[in-house]
Amino acid sequence: MYIADEKRYEKMTYNPCGDSGLRLPVVSLGLWHNFGDTASYSNMKELCHTAFDNGITHFDLANNYGPAPGSAESNFGKILRDDMMQYRDEMIISTKAGYDMWPGPYGNWGSRKYLIASLDQSLKRMGLDYVDIFYHHRMDPDTPLEETMGALEQIVRSGKALYVGLSNYDGPTMEKAAEILADRHVPFIINQNKYSIFVRTPEENGLLDSAVRNKLGVITFSPLAQGLLSDRYLNGIPEDSRIKTDGRFLKQEAIDVESLRALNDIAQNRGQSLAQMALAWLINKDAVTSVLIGASKKQQILDNIKATENVSFTAEELADIDAIAARYNDFLKK
Ligand SMILES: NC(=O)c1ccc[n+]([C@@H]2O[C@H](COP(=O)([O-])OP(=O)(O)OC[C@H]3O[C@@H](n4cnc5c(N)ncnc54)[C@H](OP(=O)(O)O)[C@@H]3O)[C@@H](O)[C@H]2O)c1
Repeated sequence: MYIADEKRYEKMTYNPCGDSGLRLPVVSLGLWHNFGDTASYSNMKELCHTAFDNGITHFDLANNYGPAPGSAESNFGKILRDDMMQYRDEMIISTKAGYDMWPGPYGNWGSRKYLIASLDQSLKRMGLDYVDIFYHHRMDPDTPLEETMGALEQIVRSGKALYVGLSNYDGPTMEKAAEILADRHVPFIINQNKYSIFVRTPEENGLLDSAVRNKLGVITFSPLAQGLLSDRYLNGIPEDSRIKTDGRFLKQEAIDVESLRALNDIAQNRGQSLAQMALAWLINKDAVTSVLIGASKKQQILDNIKATENVSFTAEELADIDAIAARYNDFLKK
């Protein structure tokens, strides 16, 4: 029987999510990888227990996480039922819909039909009555924003989500959506976007500025660039790494050892691992509410939460990191 560590709330910082009443742990755990049916159930359970024992109250899912799609939600539901449901009110559980989930025209994108049906399926898989945050997972160029936002409104009114969020939106589209949701008094509180030392899209497409202006939270996904920004690939490609075990989303061609080693040198001089520095670089930013990490091993979670021990950077460190990131992005274009 799992009993959570009594000291769990002494180990974590909780940031307000925009100007809402919700506080999120500065480090959150995502279940995109390592929670599907091909992964070890005892390991996923250990990851959830380790996270929660260390104050990580926020678990992020999506309808399509697996493989197979839906299996991460089913496995998380099983973990809850096994021994974590007693802590449900201490957890912030999110899910999303927006990517390919089932065949035909109603299993994808942003129609009212898809979002409502998908959340009903997600709740069944997880064995929950409601999620804390429900996201529209990506912008849909073909469905009117009013319809997608109307679906989010209906979801909150029906009690199936407490708050809503938008993921992978750019600044201008998010602002239009925010206006519709504010008019309808829907609690839109958070944006989820890919952001790291290597990926600066939310700076470039106005999302970060818009989020700050609208007093909204930002949770950054793939903060370690799927593991590149760690010691994983400094000396070859380990057999148990994401590139070797999955290879769908992170590929060998993304490794530029020179950039990784240069960043690692800066991290070492700061007394941090590269992963810790990559997370600290995000936590240091006022716009960022929480960094949304993935993990394949318990020890990675334990190492990553130590990022909070040093989150200030000198101007010189920041300039050096920017220069290496620019060099890395040039490398990717070749
Ligand atoms: N909204 C969206 O569209 C979207 C898209 C993608 C992800 N997300 C969310 O963001 C979450 C995190 O994404 P992500 O898994 O790509 O994040 P990430 O933190 O950038 O990468 C996680 C991977 O990095 C490696 N790692 C983590 N800590 C490490 C450490 N201390 N030392 C060495 N290696 C370490 C592990 O890979 P190994 O397997 O190699 O050990 C781990 O699986 C997802 O689970 C999901 O919830 C959202």
